[in-house]
Amino acid sequence: MIESANVGLIYGTDTSNTEEVGERICEEFAKHGIHVQMVNVTEASSAVIEQFDLIIMGIPTWDFGGIQQDWEEFEPELLVTNLQGKTAALYGLGDQFGYGDYFLDAMGWLYERLLKTKAWMIGYWPTEGYDFSASLATIQQGSLFCGLAIDEDQQFDLTDKRIHSWVNQIIGEFKQACAA
Ligand SMILES: Cc1cc2nc3c(=O)[nH]c(=O)nc-3n(C[C@H](O)[C@H](O)[C@H](O)COP(=O)(O)O)c2cc1C
Repeated sequence: MIESANVGLIYGTDTSNTEEVGERICEEFAKHGIHVQMVNVTEASSAVIEQFDLIIMGIPTWDFGGIQQDWEEFEPELLVTNLQGKTAALYGLGDQFGYGDYFLDAMGWLYERLLKTKAWMIGYWPTEGYDFSASLATIQQGSLFCGLAIDEDQQFDLTDKRIHSWVNQIIGEFKQACAA
């Protein structure tokens, strides 16, 4: 039962966009009767993350493919986090026109590290509808992002629609993962 699942959203942010998008993701879950606990990565630990059944992580990319600082500092803790048997999904924020050679690179960085925690990953998202040259956050020959791609700088008008579809998608995928 997803309504009784423990769902957490861990985010890092420099200028609040990733936090605000996180709040909108939580609101979308609330429409399904699901409470999501938001945790700033500066307040997170392995123990905090391991208590959740479904873990959503949000990260923006900064300075030409750079990792948001709080997430970078959290890396050692993340690498000793054990999420075997847990499900995880990612969302990333970036600017596809301003930084089209590094679009959402930090989400790709976080994806690689999450795989090491043995979490079951859901929430892959099509690259169609975005315009960029290169990204470390794509998989399957560039057809998918490793998580939800949000661009508040250039495509803010699409954010609500994207969040709505993605939350529906991950709820369905989480149910399937629980049934498997
Ligand atoms: C100086 C600067 C560097 C940036 N570098 C990148 C980048 O390399 N790749 C990218 O996709 N977005 C880049 N961005 C866009 C940010 O990721 C985007 O504005 C994001 O919404 C910020 O999220 P935050 O408010 O949660 O920190 C950059 C923005 C600025 C101002």
